[in-house]
Amino acid sequence: MKVTVVSRSGREVIKGGIELHDEATVSDLQEAIHARTKKYYPSRQRLTLPMQAGIQGKPIVLSPKKKLVDYCDGNVKNLTVVFKDLGVQVLYRTLFFWEYLGPLVIYPIFYYFPVYKYFGYEGERVVYPVQTYAMYYWCLHYSKRIMETFFVHRFSHATSPLSNVFRNCAYYWTFGAYIAYYVNHPMYTPVNDLQMKIGFGFGLICQVSNFYCHILLRNLRNPNGNGGYQIPHGFLFNIVTCANYTTEIYQWLGFNIATQTIAGYVFLVVAALIMTNWALAKHRRLKKLFDGKEGRPRYPRRWVILPPFI
Ligand SMILES: NC(=O)c1ccc[n+]([C@@H]2O[C@H](COP(=O)([O-])OP(=O)(O)OC[C@H]3O[C@@H](n4cnc5c(N)ncnc54)[C@H](OP(=O)(O)O)[C@@H]3O)[C@@H](O)[C@H]2O)c1
Repeated sequence: MKVTVVSRSGREVIKGGIELHDEATVSDLQEAIHARTKKYYPSRQRLTLPMQAGIQGKPIVLSPKKKLVDYCDGNVKNLTVVFKDLGVQVLYRTLFFWEYLGPLVIYPIFYYFPVYKYFGYEGERVVYPVQTYAMYYWCLHYSKRIMETFFVHRFSHATSPLSNVFRNCAYYWTFGAYIAYYVNHPMYTPVNDLQMKIGFGFGLICQVSNFYCHILLRNLRNPNGNGGYQIPHGFLFNIVTCANYTTEIYQWLGFNIATQTIAGYVFLVVAALIMTNWALAKHRRLKKLFDGKEGRPRYPRRWVILPPFI
């Protein structure tokens, strides 16, 4: 079989194409492209079928495990694929590790070190119990996320573009510093004892629930990340599609009830908006995958992220 590899503009990426045996898989083709170009290792490549003239929509992405003949429309001797360079890739675990390490390190700096003298506050800083508990709560949260990244999540994609590391780090590190600055500030005014206890208590229950949601998601896949997308069920997943995001949002609400800063609430709103966007996409994908047709189960009626609103 001869495979012609072209760019999205139609330029030939591999001069003269690639000859492969008839049983070759997409993964074999990716290896062959890597061998010829040296630069584009398989996870950097996105291969799609050419779009038919006049047909709108997204192109079909070639799955590495499938055979190339599965994508040949009648003509099994020739196949044309469109190549896109996804850019330098890093492991998903590397991406998550760096984005979470920032807030884990930055926040305690504001608590432990006399950084406020560089912002013009010379006097002695009184540390309230709520600021100490907030620091432990914060560190617990980000340590949990790093541990989950390495020991709980079973990602479907091994890698992510390097550019995402810079984007995500900018988001988490900046918000980490912004919230740490205000919660540990020498002029910070603590909330009353009861409000603090309710906030941290509620937040901790949500953190434990969030961890349990991640265990339930983990069990939907086998250890090598195979198994695709399944209908999540059990615990809060029986009523809401993205119960892990619901509990994530509520645990930040608990932190904010206890610490009460504008910075914390700004982060809560931004994070909730981001997660709502993702949750809507995940809900749509599950409804499409489980449409109740041709023997497939029908996705049950569920809230998306924040019952009873969405
Ligand atoms: N504060 C914030 O701004 C913020 C933002 C985002 C996330 N978070 C936190 O970080 C956690 C992880 O985020 P995430 O966006 O990576 O979560 P996620 O996509 O919902 O899922 C976590 C893991 O479960 C897998 N998974 C999800 N739905 C599945 C299904 N139906 N069937 C099989 N596997 C499924 C995912 O696989 P894939 O690899 O295929 O996706 C991923 O490995 C969140 O739960 C939340 O606690 C916080």
